[in-house]
Amino acid sequence: MKVTTSGFLETGNIMVIPVFEGCNKAPNNATTNLNRSASIAVKSAFASDSFTGKLGESLSVWTKECQIILLGVGEKNDLTTKKSRDTGAKCFASLSKNHGTKIVIRYTTGWNVKNMAAFAEGMILRDYSFDKYQKKEDDKKGPWSLMCQTIERHQDALNSAVNRAYEIATGVHLARDLGNEPANKLYPEEFGKRALEWSKDKQNVEVEVWNYARLKEEGMYGLIEVGKGSIHKPCMVFFRLNPSANKDSEVPCIVGKGITFDSGGISIKGSAGMDEMKLDMHGSATVFGLFQALHATGYEGRINGITCMAENMPSAEAYRPGDVINTYSGKTIEVLNTDAEGRNVLADGLWKASELKPSYIIDLATLTGSIVVALGHEATGLFSNNKALSEKIQTAGDEVDEISWPMPLLPAFEKQMTSSKIADVRNQGKGRWGGASQAAGFLKQFVQEREDKEGKKSQIPWAHLDIAGTAGIWGGETNVTVGHGATGVQVRALHYLITQK
Ligand code: BES
Ligand code: ZN
Ligand code: ZN
Repeated sequence: MKVTTSGFLETGNIMVIPVFEGCNKAPNNATTNLNRSASIAVKSAFASDSFTGKLGESLSVWTKECQIILLGVGEKNDLTTKKSRDTGAKCFASLSKNHGTKIVIRYTTGWNVKNMAAFAEGMILRDYSFDKYQKKEDDKKGPWSLMCQTIERHQDALNSAVNRAYEIATGVHLARDLGNEPANKLYPEEFGKRALEWSKDKQNVEVEVWNYARLKEEGMYGLIEVGKGSIHKPCMVFFRLNPSANKDSEVPCIVGKGITFDSGGISIKGSAGMDEMKLDMHGSATVFGLFQALHATGYEGRINGITCMAENMPSAEAYRPGDVINTYSGKTIEVLNTDAEGRNVLADGLWKASELKPSYIIDLATLTGSIVVALGHEATGLFSNNKALSEKIQTAGDEVDEISWPMPLLPAFEKQMTSSKIADVRNQGKGRWGGASQAAGFLKQFVQEREDKEGKKSQIPWAHLDIAGTAGIWGGETNVTVGHGATGVQVRALHYLITQK
């Protein structure tokens, strides 16, 4: 989608006029450059009782030149970026290319830049489909274009906000692409290959892939044990943006769970909905998408990413309940359930991240069904050992409307997870209650401590985002910026967190 900003010039093929409630007369500029009959039709539509501007209301006016859509966004003072973005996304989903592909949005009186940009962002985010495996007619009509029209005073600010939204959306869409890829097409090494290809033409990016042999040399048996049951062997992928910048300062490290398919392994899952487990690498997809978004927006700081890639399959070579894993950290894990595999691979990823001397670590993982029970599809579960980091993540999420909801990291859960009779930690809690907190208590064991200048030891600031409920939409309605499948969740929030000082 090509995105531009201008004054009230062209009318496009489809003209969208978002309108506040109670507006019973065509606002200034609504009809600029429309021919006389179109202009009369629009003015009558505004004046009619059938359109009041309530949130979600829409009225189409058909003219010879273009389809004109009056779109209600509710009371002006109640408008939020979320309402704007969602209205833009829903409107986009209803459009058809039959009338042409040039969309014009006319922001008339009363719009501020933030809400205008969010409305356009909704359209940009929704302009996505995963149809590469479907036979389709040649799309002779070509891609959409989007022209945002506003008064001159707002044009520069709107132009940069919309362009930034577009650049960030390239990362969201990449994360969705990766999440939507079926597991026979996207397996651990293929993910590594795509990351290497992505880095090729980018000077300030480095990608390194540790293959199976290297994982063995390093002793990363958290990853190896989970992935060894599959013909597609595991790997660890390192992302480095601006590796030569801020050499001496500590920088963030973002870690992703990357199970390209989670069958459960020997503790196999039921068949219902198992296809969705191709999405169990969305944590890694978000890391990759985040790096794309940071690169596209020209972020100049240094940042590291680690994705832990494996396929969890049952086979003669698969790991089993009862096995003991020697992780990279030196700690051992008693496997009680092979379906609690995400935490095993993250054990190695988090320990490796700790070695990079990070300012903080954030991991993203479709980790537990339990977080979906707690928060549904509405919010990502946020666990952290550091209040300031946790608050920053919440603020970033609120800012871009990707909510992270704080969950407690209670010592009782850590105690459960460290009470194995034969190993240092166990990969399943003692019962089913608090499953997401159990998992977080497990992960915490693999975040290193460090000393401050006075020699005082404390754990590296770390946050764990359980995105099991927010990573995908299968017939759900929660995230209207997506039609179906992977959402690309947390790319926008983490981009905001990292780029806003
Ligand atoms: N990948 C799943 C969690 C999941 C569930 C993601 C639903 C997305 C949607 C994870 O590996 C898993 O199977 N977790 C188990 C852990 C249990 C065996 C301790 C769970 O949550 O049931
Ligand atoms: Zn699992
Ligand atoms: Zn899983």
